[in-house]
Order: sequence, then C-alpha cells, then structure tokens
Amino acid sequence: MCGIIGYNGKENAIPIVISGLKNLEYRGYDSSGIAYFINKKIKIIKEKGRIKNLEENLTNDISNLCIGHTRWATHGKPSKINSHPHHVNHITIVHNGIIENYNILKEDLIKKGYEFKSETDTEVACALIDYLYTKTKDKLQTLNELKNYLKGSYALLILFDDDIDTLYAIRKGSPLIVAESETGNFVASDIPAILDYTKKYYLLEEDEFAVIKSDNIVFYKDGKEITKELLTFEHDIKSAKKDGYSHFMLKEIHEQPVVIKNFLDYYLNNMNLIPDLSHYKKIHIVACGSAYHAGLIATFLIEKYGDMEVSTFVASEYRYKKNFINSDTVVILISQSGETADTIASLRLAKEFNAHTIGIVNVVGSTIAREASEVIYINAGCEIAVATTKAYTLQVLALSLFAFKLGIVKKNISQEEQSNIIKEYQKLPLEIEKVLKVNYKEYAKKIYKHKSVFFIGRLIDYCICEEGSLKLKEISYIHSETYPAGELKHGTISLIEENTPVIAVVTDKNIADKTVSNIKEVKARGAYTLVLKNKNLKLDKEIYNDIIEISDLKDLALAILAIVPLQMIAFEVANMLGYDIDKPRNLAKSVTVE
Ligand code: G6P
Repeated sequence: MCGIIGYNGKENAIPIVISGLKNLEYRGYDSSGIAYFINKKIKIIKEKGRIKNLEENLTNDISNLCIGHTRWATHGKPSKINSHPHHVNHITIVHNGIIENYNILKEDLIKKGYEFKSETDTEVACALIDYLYTKTKDKLQTLNELKNYLKGSYALLILFDDDIDTLYAIRKGSPLIVAESETGNFVASDIPAILDYTKKYYLLEEDEFAVIKSDNIVFYKDGKEITKELLTFEHDIKSAKKDGYSHFMLKEIHEQPVVIKNFLDYYLNNMNLIPDLSHYKKIHIVACGSAYHAGLIATFLIEKYGDMEVSTFVASEYRYKKNFINSDTVVILISQSGETADTIASLRLAKEFNAHTIGIVNVVGSTIAREASEVIYINAGCEIAVATTKAYTLQVLALSLFAFKLGIVKKNISQEEQSNIIKEYQKLPLEIEKVLKVNYKEYAKKIYKHKSVFFIGRLIDYCICEEGSLKLKEISYIHSETYPAGELKHGTISLIEENTPVIAVVTDKNIADKTVSNIKEVKARGAYTLVLKNKNLKLDKEIYNDIIEISDLKDLALAILAIVPLQMIAFEVANMLGYDIDKPRNLAKSVTVE
C-alpha cells in the first residue's frame, strides 16, 4: 500500500515523479504529495484526493531531485496534514509500510522535545531520523541504526536538508527498486513507476539502503558497501499502458486469451517444471483475496485428480492459527504481487516448520518469489487495475496444471485422457475470445440499480461465484454475497425480494440438478435469475430470466473460462454506475500491511 518514487538526475524531477506516481496509484490514491529542493531549500506540496488535485497546486519550479508519495491511509484519515511527505527539522521523508511501535517512539520523542502535527506513524519515523542524525551527525550511521528502533515494515525515501544533491532509500518489509537511466537515477515501490524511462533496476533487499546521486548509486548493508546485480525488466513496456482501452481492467480482461495461450504453450511443453505434489503428505494453499479464491478452486481440482486432501486458508488467519505442518507438508502461496504482508508471513511461518513452499507469483523478483523454496511465475505482465482479472485466471490455470500433473504422476489420468485434457486447455484462448464477444450490458442493466446481489453455486461453481461476487462488489459497491446453493435457504433466502438479482453458476453436471432446485427456490420468491451454464446442460426455461452459455469444457479448463462472463458483468455494472473502475474506493492492489 502506498506508492513512493524518487528521481535524482539531469532532468526536471518534478514531472518525472508526478508521472511515476500516476503509474503507482494502484497502490493507494487517497492523497498524494511531493518534496523537492529549490533554491537550496526543501519545498513540500501535498493534497488530499487523486494526483490531479496535487497537479493543480504545482508551480513552474524546476528541480533535479524530487520524492513523491501516493497514499492508502493506515494511521489517520486521508487529509492534507496526514499526507506525505512529512518534514521534521532537517529531514523530509515518504514512507510505505507501518511502524508498529510508533506510539512508544512518539512518547519518547515528545519527551525529547519533538512536536507532531499529523496522526501518522510516518511523522514519528521522520522525527526519529532527525533525532538520530542530530545525535550522530552521520547519515550512514543514522540509516544503519534505524532498524534498531523501528518495528514493522518500511520503505523510506529520505532527504536531508544539508545534502541537497542526494536521495537516501532504505527498506524492511516493504518493497523498493532502485533504477538507473541515461539521464538519472530512480527509486520506487514498483517497476511501473519507472518504465517510461528505463528497464534497468536493482532490487533492494531487507535492511539494505541506497545512497543515490544523480550520476551514481551506492548500496549498503550492515554499514558495509555492497555490490548488487543490475536486472532488466523483460516484459513488454506497453503492458503498463491502456492501449486504447477505456480502462485497465477492460484491457486486462481482454488480454486473457493471449496470456493464457503463452502460459500453456510454455508449461504444457515443460510439464517437468510443474511441481510434483505427490512427494508430500499434506497440501496447504494460502492466499488473500482473489488469490484465495483461486486456491479454493484448486482444492477441488487437486483432490479430484490427485486423490489427495487439500486445505486452503486465508493468509491472515493461517499465520495466527495452529497449523499441523512439517517437512512432509507443501504450502502453496498464491500472490499476484508477491508482496502481500499476510501471505509473506504465512510463507515464513511454513519455512519455520520446514515445510516445502511453492510461490505462484506474477511480479518477478518479489519477496514471495525470492523466499519460497520454488516459484512458478504466471507471467501475466503488469496488472494495473486494482480488481485482478488476468492474474487470477492464470493462478487458477497454474493450479489446474498442478492437479493435472498430480493426476498423471499418480496414474489417475490415462494416456488418452491426458491428450484430451491438453486439447481442452488449448481451446481456452479461443473460447475466452468467444465469451468476450457477448454483450454484457444487457445483463448489467438488470443489476446496476439493485442494492444487493446474490451468487449461488455448488463446489467449484461456488468458488467461481466467490470470485464473481468479489469482482462485482469491489468495483460497483453493490452489496454482494455468495452462498453454496444449498445453504441459502438456511437464513439468507429471507433477503430475496421481488427482482433481487441472483446469479447462479451451473457448470458441474454432476451436481447441476441440485443447484437447479435452489435456483427454483429463489425464482419462486421473485428473484431475477441469471444463470451461467455450459451449452450441453439442458435447463427448464422456467428457472431463469436470462442465461449465459459457455462451451462444455472439462473442469480443469472450465473453471478458467467460467469466470470471464462474471468479470465482464462486474465491469459493465460499475461502468453504468460511473465509478472509477481501475481505482475503487478504499482499496489498493498491493496490500503490504496486515
Ligand atoms: C488486494 C487486491 C486483490 C488481491 C489481494 C491479494 O486485496 O485488491 O485483488 O487478490 O490483494 O493480492 P496478491 O498480490 O497477494 O495476489
């Protein structure tokens, strides 16, 4: 949460930092600010709301060194005073993360004479740096000592009033990259911030810090200078642009056929790279948000094809519960960003118990990718919209291949079935393209004015509903609940009124009759029913108001196809309501706090 960027170079740093912040807005967008040196003095401009509010307050100043921040509030409401950068005496900082012991530090610093204007933990960190610097009179020593005082997570960009040519960056727990270009050097929370200028970057690791001049960068750890490998961002630079689409979410939904094809072309030819889960006695899957929903689907697929029990957990629960894991356990961590705080904590916990860990990750070089024993990259390219789409489908696809491989290894899938399944996977890109041709506005019209929507399904269909419902509520702000179809009658059916939209997913033939009975129950109580089903399943016209049909693929591939209409419905509903689809209120894409 929160995006930070700094530039030190030959160009005017202010527009560079502003454009970088715009590319980081997916990390938070309730306020923003910048700080730069002009006439040898620090100047700070900050505003509540989107970056355009900040831009309205900019002057024609030119500066070669600037830092910026876009905020997702944790300590103190979104307001100008709580916005970053914060300035205390000689020090100016921007921060991503949470200083957990800020209250204790604040009390101590107040006793030492410091006064605070904001409610933030960041201002406390700023005062602490000022205190340490006043005491040591040594910048490197100050940065070195910081970790002895700060608990929690932080990526900090620091400017010292008496060193107007240098940008300092330090991290623990929150990500930072340092990048170099021909005209100057950058530091940022994530790669999209710098992609317009360079693809060459270094990953700052835990407790490392960087001293960034306009023409050189020096890295340190534990007080000693270190050398780091310069990396190259390999993806298409265009992936961080809208490419003619009205929204990133729409673009990312439409990218699914291509990224799925690329993934399949690679992994179906390299099945040896797909982990063999048969080595383990216990399989745990741990993730947050949509990634957790991908894990739920995998539970069914792995159990069915691999004949092994699987347990899937929300990471924020897993990290605090008793888990019966040991070296016979494999813990699969799913995360688009690879930086979700609770998923990282679960990974570290699993490693403490000597479990084997596998990360299913999109962002190359992210913390989970680096720390897991094994990593499968989904290679979705940059995903900018806060509501995930293409990364989610690739997560399901990766896990589907885990189930497929396990089925092969355990000889649960015959040779003939194997080639049929491969053909089914290969149909996916074309089938998704077909599904994307449907006019979803027609269904959205019947949903967008309602206060509540319900999704029902059984088994895998229920898991698909969970994701469809999350998509709808996060971008349209319509209250939406998912129920296993048979469970609705145990209380929640009392909420069904005349025309309440109920979206039912019926792709599992074995259980379709049961779900159909549940659809009838809500239809009899006046619900508007929209049924998503596969073509070969015959349904009585009486039970639905509208129907969306998808091809009759096998479950290993069908679970991926079935989510696409629900993504599109969520998009069209939110679009009709005129909301900011790529940046829904209160959310952030990368949740680096617990
Ligand atoms: C946030 C995002 C969700 C995402 C979840 C987990 O809540 O808004 O779209 O599913 O975090 O993120 P991860 O990066 O770990 O997949």
